[in-house]
Amino acid sequence: MSEQEKGPGGMSRRDFLKLLGAAGTSLAFAPFVPWGKFMPNPSSVTLAKVPVMLPDGTQANLHTFPVNHAEIITYPETADEVLNEEAFRKWQFIRLPEKYGGTRKDVSSFRGYSMICLHLWCLWKYWPEEGRMRGECPCHGSMYDVRTGTSFLGPASLQAPPSNTLAQLDFEADSDGFMFISPPTWGVNQNGVVGYGRFT
Ligand code: FES
Repeated sequence: MSEQEKGPGGMSRRDFLKLLGAAGTSLAFAPFVPWGKFMPNPSSVTLAKVPVMLPDGTQANLHTFPVNHAEIITYPETADEVLNEEAFRKWQFIRLPEKYGGTRKDVSSFRGYSMICLHLWCLWKYWPEEGRMRGECPCHGSMYDVRTGTSFLGPASLQAPPSNTLAQLDFEADSDGFMFISPPTWGVNQNGVVGYGRFT
């Protein structure tokens, strides 16, 4: 294991993440963690353009993915199934509802947001029901605008930018409609930083 992957006290990144898992999904000690060492970032993985792989093992296609629907995708994926289960690699892959332009036959009808709530790192998800159509965090009620990834209600909405807007993925599609994740840049002025946020 490289020094890059050593955490506090020489703990490995993987052990650290297991510890976080044991502590539960609400990470109240988040401000004291040198979390930058544990993010999926260019120093620990090779970021590349990859297919959007859905939980059923198929590649997302903009001609078939349902409007107003979300699936969980993993990025960046590794060959290690344990690492792939890290919450920091989980994203909501969302096709917008019709009223927000979700019927457009191009990538503009899709969004990909980190599932790590910007308040205390619980996992939020998209709710497509009429009257909701937003991201909601079950822990303390933060809500996220599905069009922008910006929190508009709850504790995450009260945090100063960039920590009120979720990190996001960009997508591209080939001529047959098959979708790919564009290589992101983890920075608050680009794709954002998972668990920390993004300037809009
Ligand atoms: S962790 Fe508190 S609202 Fe999400």
